[in-house]
Amino acid sequence: MEQARYDKVARRLHWLIGTLLIVQIVFGFCMDEIAPRNTPARAGVINNHKSFGIVLGLLILWRLYWRLRHSPPAWPAALPRWQQLAAHWGHIGLYVCMLVMPLSGYVGSNFSKHGIKFFGTPLPPWGPDLPTVYKFFNGVHVVTAFVFAALIAGHILAAIQHMMARDGTLHRISLASDKD
Ligand code: HEM
Ligand code: HEM
Repeated sequence: MEQARYDKVARRLHWLIGTLLIVQIVFGFCMDEIAPRNTPARAGVINNHKSFGIVLGLLILWRLYWRLRHSPPAWPAALPRWQQLAAHWGHIGLYVCMLVMPLSGYVGSNFSKHGIKFFGTPLPPWGPDLPTVYKFFNGVHVVTAFVFAALIAGHILAAIQHMMARDGTLHRISLASDKD
């Protein structure tokens, strides 16, 4: 049966960004263990997180731009209405978190005297050193990280359920070529 699929770019970006995001989130949550605060290793580790986060943010902007210009495939007719709604709102939630994470990190870091060292190159902060503003954006960053992790867990559970049902949903986003 001919199956409607996401286009090739959308499929590739899904897996590239999805994999990098999972690594970035795990890395983010482990930073205190990898390099505790007030140790010499801390600055380097945080700046690696910031640099990779900025690269991810740019990839995410590309993905969002692509998504807004290319319609997704129609839902399979057999997919119950409630699952279509859950997937629709779940995907919107994932996109919102994909934007808020790098943006809150980037903006917050510009209200701190530490600024950002992008792979070693200092990017002087464009904002003043305002700890309360930094704290606000950092709070948004941390709370969104938990919401994001919960949404990703739900997304993966839904994918596993479709995998077990063998209903072709994974093929819509898989990296396999159209001939496979
Ligand atoms: C950080 C990790 C991930 C994020 C942020 C993410 C995000 C998304 C988003 C936003 C879509 C909708 C695509 C669109 O409308 O543009 C999607 C589709 C999909 N994702 Fe993920 N994803 C992630 C990881 C995964 C993983 C690990 C799996 C499999 C185990 C998976 C399976 C799928 C499937 C099967 C679809 C297609 C759903 C459909 O047919 O509409 N995703 N993903
Ligand atoms: C998609 C991109 C990003 C993801 C998924 C992400 C994820 C995370 C996670 C999971 C944490 C740990 C939260 C906690 O403490 O419980 C964290 C902390 C942090 N992130 Fe990000 N991040 C991203 C991008 C960025 C960017 C672009 C910057 C700055 C340019 C940044 C700066 C920070 C800072 C300063 C912390 C707090 C470190 C501390 O506790 O002092 N992040 N991030």
